[in-house]
Amino acid sequence: MTVRHFLSLMDCTPAELAGLLKRGIELKSLHRQGVIYEPLKNRVLGMIFEKASTRTRVSFEAGMIQLGGQAIFLSPRDTQLGRGEPIEDSARVLSRMCDAVMIRTFAHATLETFAAHSQVPVINGLSDDLHPCQLLADMQTFLEHRGSIKDKVVTWIGDGNNMCHSYIHAAIQFDFQLRIACPEGFEPDQVFLDKAGERVTLVRDPNEAVAGAHLISTDVWASMGQEDEAEARMQRFAPYQVNPAMLDRADESVLFMHCLPAHRGEEVSAELMDDPRSVVWDQAENRLHAQKALVEFLLTA
Ligand code: CP
Ligand code: NVA
Repeated sequence: MTVRHFLSLMDCTPAELAGLLKRGIELKSLHRQGVIYEPLKNRVLGMIFEKASTRTRVSFEAGMIQLGGQAIFLSPRDTQLGRGEPIEDSARVLSRMCDAVMIRTFAHATLETFAAHSQVPVINGLSDDLHPCQLLADMQTFLEHRGSIKDKVVTWIGDGNNMCHSYIHAAIQFDFQLRIACPEGFEPDQVFLDKAGERVTLVRDPNEAVAGAHLISTDVWASMGQEDEAEARMQRFAPYQVNPAMLDRADESVLFMHCLPAHRGEEVSAELMDDPRSVVWDQAENRLHAQKALVEFLLTA
């Protein structure tokens, strides 16, 4: 039997993704009712973090506990991963001990190499290229608040980064229009744009990009690993701050999302985080339930 991995939203069909969102909502409801549901008893998720994390680590760890299993946190600093043991060998060994492995890494190729040598599902917990787990939570959040996102207008403001790439995948898989407003030189990779075709458009002016939008999302201007560029990026991205006045130009039902962590006063104005149109806390909470649905799908389907 071939092992299913989740390195990208493109690893699932649109129907499977829709099923994951529905299941995430069900698992959230069960949890809120205090129902004990432990289909993953004795199952273990290994979690390799090459970069920092709050939400991804805690949501996977709490999620595994809630489903009756356990998660093991592995940092390259105190494992052989940081001392040069080949990815291939680490994958062979860890996948004989764990039932699934989540990896947060720099090079996306690390995930692909690990997955190619793993006997168990591998989950992308963020790479330099993609952040698909965050999109499961974002799409679940939109569904809960506004219903289907099909044919809606979504605007991505800021860096053409890993989150932006996953939004492009989401536009393909969930069938919405995506407008991307980014400064010149900070566009998403052309390979992602080519795949999306006319569903995705690049717009330089953020105010033009948000007109009539149903969802506006942004992210930090300097991602993990780009700390040296932070100062220079601050200047280039200043006109791309998302604020309440910008949301006023969007559809009246618009929602604001941010994957977090946020830099209030930079990519998002301080007050917007707590604006009634902001759903950033629901979004963060939904990481837990969306990923429970994902792990259940990968381990029990
Ligand atoms: N949004 C997100 O992935 O957050 P963390 O970096 O805290 O995991
Ligand atoms: N683009 C950000 C997302 C953090 C969740 C980063 O890669 O640092």
